[in-house]
Amino acid sequence: MLEQMLIPKESIAVQKIVLKTLSTIQGEEFPLFVIGKWNSFLPNLRDEGIRLLLSNEKGTIELIKALEAGTVDPSAIPWPRQVGMMAQADDNLRLRSREIFSNKVNDVKKKKVLEQYSDISSLKGDVDKGLEVFKINCATCHQIGGEYGTAYGPDLASIRSRKPESIVKDILDPGLSIADGYDLWEVKLINGETKQGIISSETSNSINLRVLGSSDEVLSRSDIEGLTAKNISVMPAGLESQISINDMADLLAFIKKLKK
Ligand code: HEC
Repeated sequence: MLEQMLIPKESIAVQKIVLKTLSTIQGEEFPLFVIGKWNSFLPNLRDEGIRLLLSNEKGTIELIKALEAGTVDPSAIPWPRQVGMMAQADDNLRLRSREIFSNKVNDVKKKKVLEQYSDISSLKGDVDKGLEVFKINCATCHQIGGEYGTAYGPDLASIRSRKPESIVKDILDPGLSIADGYDLWEVKLINGETKQGIISSETSNSINLRVLGSSDEVLSRSDIEGLTAKNISVMPAGLESQISINDMADLLAFIKKLKK
C-alpha cells in the first residue's frame, strides 16, 4: 500500500515520509526497491532516496552497484554526498566510489586535464564568483585565513603565494603530494573497532583523530592496538568534472587575492 503512494500525484512531503517509512525495512529489500523505481523518481525524491540509501551500509553497497551498472547516473548524486562517498571509511567502497566519480582518471588523461588548465594564469578571475566555487567544492574541508569553511584539511591561506599552475596541480591531482601532517590514518582499537582520520594532535597518553563530517575524537593510547598510514589523500580526485576552466580562474582569484 505504501509503495502505491509513491506517485507524482502525492505531495513530495508525503512521498518522502512514505520512503522514509519503507526504509525501516531491514536488508536489501529497500535499496533494491529504490533503485528499481529510480527512473520514476523526481529529483526531490531522488535526493531523499540517496540520503536514505547512504544512511547504512547495505544501501551504500547497492547504490554503488547501481552507479557502476549505470542504472543510476553519477550526476544524480549531489556533490557533498559524492565527497562523503569518496572519503568513506570502508576501503573497498571508497575506492569504488572514487572510480565512479573521478571519470576513471588515468595518467594520460590527468596530463590532458592539466594541459587544459595550463594557461590559467592568463585568465582574469572574479573574486566573488571564486568564493561561490569555493563554498560549493572546498568549504567542506578547507578554510582560508580561518574563515569560509571547515578546518579539516590545511588552511589554504598558506598556499596563497604559490604559482597558480602549482595550485591547480594540487587541486586536480591531490594524490601527487600529501601536505605535511594531513595523512589519512587507520587506527585499530583493542576492542576491535577501526577508525580513520587525520591525526590533528597528540599527547603522551592520547591522540586526537579528526574525522570528516564529525567532531574530533580523542583516543586514549591504551585503547589503541595499531596505527597505519593509508598513503592516500583524503581530498577527492576528479574535481575537474566540477570546476570549469573559468570557475578555476575565479577560484584562484579568490584564494590569491583574499585579504586577511
Ligand atoms: C574531502 C575533503 C576535501 C575537499 C572537498 C577538498 N580538499 Fe583540498 N585537501 C584536503 C586534505 C585532507 C588535504 C591535505 C592532504 C593533501 O595534501 O592531499 C588537502 C590539500 C589541498 C591542497 C594542498 C595544500 C598544501 O599545503 O600543499 C590544496 C591546494 C587544496 N587541498 C585545495 C583544495 C581546493 C581548492 C578544493 C576545492 C576545489 C579542495 N581542496 C577540496 C581535503 C579536501
